Amino acid sequence: MTRISGVSLRRVLDSRGNPTVEADVLTVSGGFGRAAAPSGASTGEHEAIELPPGEAIAAARKHAVPRLVETVHAGNQREVDAALRGADGTENFSALGANSAVAISMAAAKAGADVLGAPLYQHLGGTFRGDEFPVPLGNVVGGGEHAADATHIQEFLAAPVGAPSIQEAVFANAAVHEEVGELLADRGVAAAKGDEGAWAPAIEDAAAFELVAAACETVEDEFGFEVGFGLDIAATELWDGTAYQYGDESRSPAEQVEYVAGLVDEYDLVYVEDPLEEDDFAGFADLTDRVGSEARSTSHASGKGPRADRTLVCGDDLFVTNVERLQQGIEQDAGNSILIKPNQIGTLSAAVDAIELATRNGLTPVVSHRSGETEDATIAHLAVATGAPFIKTGTVGGERTAKLNELIRIAEDAV
Ligand code: PGA
Ligand code: ZN
Repeated sequence: MTRISGVSLRRVLDSRGNPTVEADVLTVSGGFGRAAAPSGASTGEHEAIELPPGEAIAAARKHAVPRLVETVHAGNQREVDAALRGADGTENFSALGANSAVAISMAAAKAGADVLGAPLYQHLGGTFRGDEFPVPLGNVVGGGEHAADATHIQEFLAAPVGAPSIQEAVFANAAVHEEVGELLADRGVAAAKGDEGAWAPAIEDAAAFELVAAACETVEDEFGFEVGFGLDIAATELWDGTAYQYGDESRSPAEQVEYVAGLVDEYDLVYVEDPLEEDDFAGFADLTDRVGSEARSTSHASGKGPRADRTLVCGDDLFVTNVERLQQGIEQDAGNSILIKPNQIGTLSAAVDAIELATRNGLTPVVSHRSGETEDATIAHLAVATGAPFIKTGTVGGERTAKLNELIRIAEDAV
């Protein structure tokens, strides 16, 4: 029933106005799925390769589509993804392009779900229980590669860990974003928005910490549950091969660990992503030992939930959703969390493999968007299907709210 009868590919716009790959998958029984590849700006060195969309589409038409049509079943995700791997024939999708691969992989999953008449998250293996939604980490202030002349730290992320429902969590993040905007306006600081919709003011990182901490506290009081915050330092972008460069300030690797550990203590951070450059497993292990193994020192009275009991030290560029790099991290105790971006590895199956390996070893998976996004909401379904405790998908802007609103809709299925 789910045998693939056709695959079409096209260039569509992403949220930065760049072209990206969109795929449609059709089945012989009339099933239909459509998905588009996101795109990073602060990409990791070890990610699967994104080709220029025109090249990726031509390669997929030539090598992948003939292997899929009339042969492979959209309902069998492993079979679809093995065909994509076979058509590519490289380690890192450099022949097909991870952008073509992930678009086809996700579109096939949707076509499989369509034939079954099931929501995508159910087809991918999950049931949804209202008390087990993924907590959204919402980018509210940022700079780095996502905005010029803003903070050195790439993302300051609201983390509504005490929220009783996905809806409350989503609106809390939007309230933090709004509150930060008002605090900036009060101080006469003009601020545009970066690629992910976060405020991108030309302020020092220290000032951003104060603003975000104040905004989270206000929203915490208003909503009545814990709203902490976290960071994506995206430290590879600050690393010059010897030290981490924060404008005029420079930190050695040891000083960087010290600095981040100090921030975790001072702000009771829920989450720290990429605190060190993408090959520093030992530095990750050091920091995880310092801040990631003990209970958070939170003094927040309200609703400290199970997701907030330790600071997450999360590898994005370190692990690139790759089970081999994750295995190395597990062996070295480098990090206690992994970011999951399907386009970093090229298929949904490989992303699920990384989530399962992480979960089996006590690491917390965080399913994530990219800075370049589309309306595609597959990651919302992936997070629910795999029971991921967190999802990182921005706060405002249509390509971000597409995922958040999908989570709100999925929650209506809760029994
Ligand atoms: P990217 O940024 O999509 O530009 O890589 C997101 C992140 O670093 O988490
Ligand atoms: Zn990151």
